[in-house]
Amino acid sequence: MSRSKNDAARPIGVFDSGMGGLTVLRALHELLPGENIIYFGDTARVPYGTKGEKTVRAFASQDAGLLVDLGVKMVVVACNTASAFALEHLRETIDVPVLGVINPGVRTALAETRGGAVGVIGTSGTIRSGRYQEGLKGGGLGPDRILVQECPLFVPLVEEGMMGHAMTVMAVEEYLRPLRDAGVDTLILGCTHYPAMKEDIGRFMGPEVNLVDSADALAAAAQDRLGELGLLHGGDDRREGELEFYLSDIPWKFQEIGARFLGKPIHEVNTVGLDEMEEAGDHND
Ligand code: DGL
Repeated sequence: MSRSKNDAARPIGVFDSGMGGLTVLRALHELLPGENIIYFGDTARVPYGTKGEKTVRAFASQDAGLLVDLGVKMVVVACNTASAFALEHLRETIDVPVLGVINPGVRTALAETRGGAVGVIGTSGTIRSGRYQEGLKGGGLGPDRILVQECPLFVPLVEEGMMGHAMTVMAVEEYLRPLRDAGVDTLILGCTHYPAMKEDIGRFMGPEVNLVDSADALAAAAQDRLGELGLLHGGDDRREGELEFYLSDIPWKFQEIGARFLGKPIHEVNTVGLDEMEEAGDHND
């Protein structure tokens, strides 16, 4: 199908370090069911959360470059770590709108806090980048009301499907106790995988603590931005948009993990070699 540059039928591109970003795809598809969406997961090079800024930025440029080559009208950076380290760079180098998960999550937290502290949990990269902290401070929150915590064990626990398991309960207690004791009233789930642990986290933090799922916040931001640009698609004919999947490797438990994040099975996947990824990144540096 030939598509002109401003054609609303062009897909939205979503990328993540792996399959966790399917939580963001799911939120987008639920809110904007008529949109065509292409998902790319860099499963050959996941995790990004333990890697340094330069590496994550280089990978993110290639991921976004691939989506641009596929003709997307917007790039959504579903990965918190890539949003933390690469969003500005992508905005400078790519000529379609680029949305990340951090600002929408920050805005929601600022709107929901009831005067207590706001907690942020994420990968080591996300927390050490300081981006969430900067956003919350920029929104008027004093440093004494911001508490952050790296939770490096959460990603593998979710990938292994261990929600509700005693090991997950222990990890939740270990990481989140200081935040609960400090009385946070709002907790930003600053990682693609954490929405899958919402029940474990919610049970420990208590019902009065707001859990901010950045996937929902981002979907709403994408809707607003596409609306402003006149690029929303599929309002009239109520036809469901197409979802296409690209991965740089097929993980062993790909079907199981995919369904866990997306909420339904993925039947067809395209694979992209790392050599193709490097080429896709070349025109974005
Ligand atoms: N997608 C990453 C994030 O949201 C989590 C997995 C990883 O470390 O790559 O930060």
